[in-house]
Amino acid sequence: MCGIVGYIGNKNAYPILIKGLKRLEYRGYDSAGVALLNSKNELNIYKTKGKVSDLENFVADKDCSGTVGIAHTRWATHGEPNKINAHPHCSNSKNIALIHNGIIENYADLKEKLIQKGIEFKSDTDTEIIVHLIEYLLQKHNTNLLSAVQLALSSVVGAYAIAVLDKNNPDTIIAARKSSPLVVGIGEDEFFIASDASPIVEYTKKVIYLDNEEIACIRRGEEIKFINLKNIEVQHEIQEVLLDIGQLEKGGYAHFMLKEIFEQPACINNCMKGRVNVAHDNIKLSAVIDYQEKLVNAKRIIILACGTSWHSGLIGKYLLETYCQIPVEVEYASEFRYRNSVVGENDVVIAISQSGETADTLAAIELAKAKGAFIFGICNAVGSSIPRATHTGAYIHVGPEIGVASTKAFSGQVTVLAMLAMALGRSKNTISEKDYFEIIQELANIPQKMEKVLQLNEEIADLAKIFTYAKNFIYLGRGYCFPVALEGALKLKEISYIHAEGYPAAEMKHGPIALIDDEMPVVFIATNNALYEKVVSNMQEVKARKGRIIAIISEGDTKLNDIADFCIEVPQTLECLEPLITTIPLQLMAYHIAVCKGKNVDQPRNLAKSVTVE
Ligand code: F6R
Repeated sequence: MCGIVGYIGNKNAYPILIKGLKRLEYRGYDSAGVALLNSKNELNIYKTKGKVSDLENFVADKDCSGTVGIAHTRWATHGEPNKINAHPHCSNSKNIALIHNGIIENYADLKEKLIQKGIEFKSDTDTEIIVHLIEYLLQKHNTNLLSAVQLALSSVVGAYAIAVLDKNNPDTIIAARKSSPLVVGIGEDEFFIASDASPIVEYTKKVIYLDNEEIACIRRGEEIKFINLKNIEVQHEIQEVLLDIGQLEKGGYAHFMLKEIFEQPACINNCMKGRVNVAHDNIKLSAVIDYQEKLVNAKRIIILACGTSWHSGLIGKYLLETYCQIPVEVEYASEFRYRNSVVGENDVVIAISQSGETADTLAAIELAKAKGAFIFGICNAVGSSIPRATHTGAYIHVGPEIGVASTKAFSGQVTVLAMLAMALGRSKNTISEKDYFEIIQELANIPQKMEKVLQLNEEIADLAKIFTYAKNFIYLGRGYCFPVALEGALKLKEISYIHAEGYPAAEMKHGPIALIDDEMPVVFIATNNALYEKVVSNMQEVKARKGRIIAIISEGDTKLNDIADFCIEVPQTLECLEPLITTIPLQLMAYHIAVCKGKNVDQPRNLAKSVTVE
């Protein structure tokens, strides 16, 4: 969702801002804009619908000088994607420019009041009210910019990360946040702001993450001042970002998504490093050691997440119930937060999020925390809002995920959930020695087995060509492979725009079977596990109705060759770890179908990587 970049220092701001916007492209957007203050103190604002490259073309013959500026990519919420609704928005005097990520819920009310005071609006956005409100309060109270921003933000309800530029304060950027992310980078005589650290790491590793309702007053040549809405000055420790610039680039792959699919073996190794110790036959998660009592005594676990993270949560349920004997509920964070959910002190909430910024998951955590639950986070983005809102947790350590469709984060989440189930099961004595040792050994084999699956890339690319015609797809699996079916369907629909449904295989005959004819591709995850024969029966039912079957099968299984139209053989593993292996061919298939259809794989239409609005 919307991306924010800002710069103040002694370099030309424009190239830094544009490069920063490109680093944030992965978040998803539909228009872009930039505001710069030049040496004559002129405020130049340029905006375009479309990509950052369209903005670059538009400004090619314009004045882009200046050592201070703010820039934005907009993901439309209020008002269609067009030039007028794009940010930065400008006050009526044309002195103040503002960019915003989030949603102002009481904007209609505030807009009405400002219109009554004679203020003119140009756009359909909720954002525009903030810039007019700041200017109105500046004049009304004859105050300074910082106080006007503080007053304005005290009147708005909703989520925001903003950055403000003012002609009358040419050496200043004011930035603030509530429920939308914002990070400040501290360089040598220069400062950066951004929605995440990716536009900043190239210049400095020193960052400060703003907390909710905090304002940063960034002045050239001075130390940054942080103040909250209650006018209390806040101190922050500078943190170091452990992000390598190479991780933010494609490294020879055609798309970030493909690179991230191929990174999975290395990611899983990284995720297990220092946690899975094969030589000593143990798994250690620091959070389970530090909070053992709280976790061991949990009467119930509630897993909260959205999208792909919700699918890994379902796998977590199977793992935790099997090996820890704790009842587990998996909830969509967006539903949980608006129900009168029964949560108490004996509940442990596991919140799963790649970005660590998903608005619904964050709000659900706050709600559960307020009701006394203990919160364990499983996140990827270090220092993001969700890990900061939880009591403890475990990072998945898979590196930045840039492709909008989540791939390696899913594998990292499943790996952490497996390690958590092992560590907790061991502490509770609910897992047998045999299972515990076997799973540890097999976890260590997973990266190698993933490498084998990745060797099927060409084969899957050829298969994808056959199915670009499809308008619909069904994905079926049982047990641990039911969430894999859901994930396979989600991957396909989000990047190829083919309608796809995932179901538990046995559920098919309760409705979806009506859809099956000789044009319907049906993907079965039919590996050699306890439910194999059951899945084969479901496959026969599809075959009898002439559905076109693609089966993910275990290496060496020849039984399904006569039933399935196409078989993809993957290495055998333990049933509880199968999602780590069987998801990869589905990711590759979705990728290649989308490429065959000429779709924008890394930035699919309408989608955002970091869903910071509800
Ligand atoms: C799917 C996808 C989304 C995210 C969902 C949650 O490929 O990327 O469904 O999984 O928006 O995002 P996080 O995990 O960042 O909370």
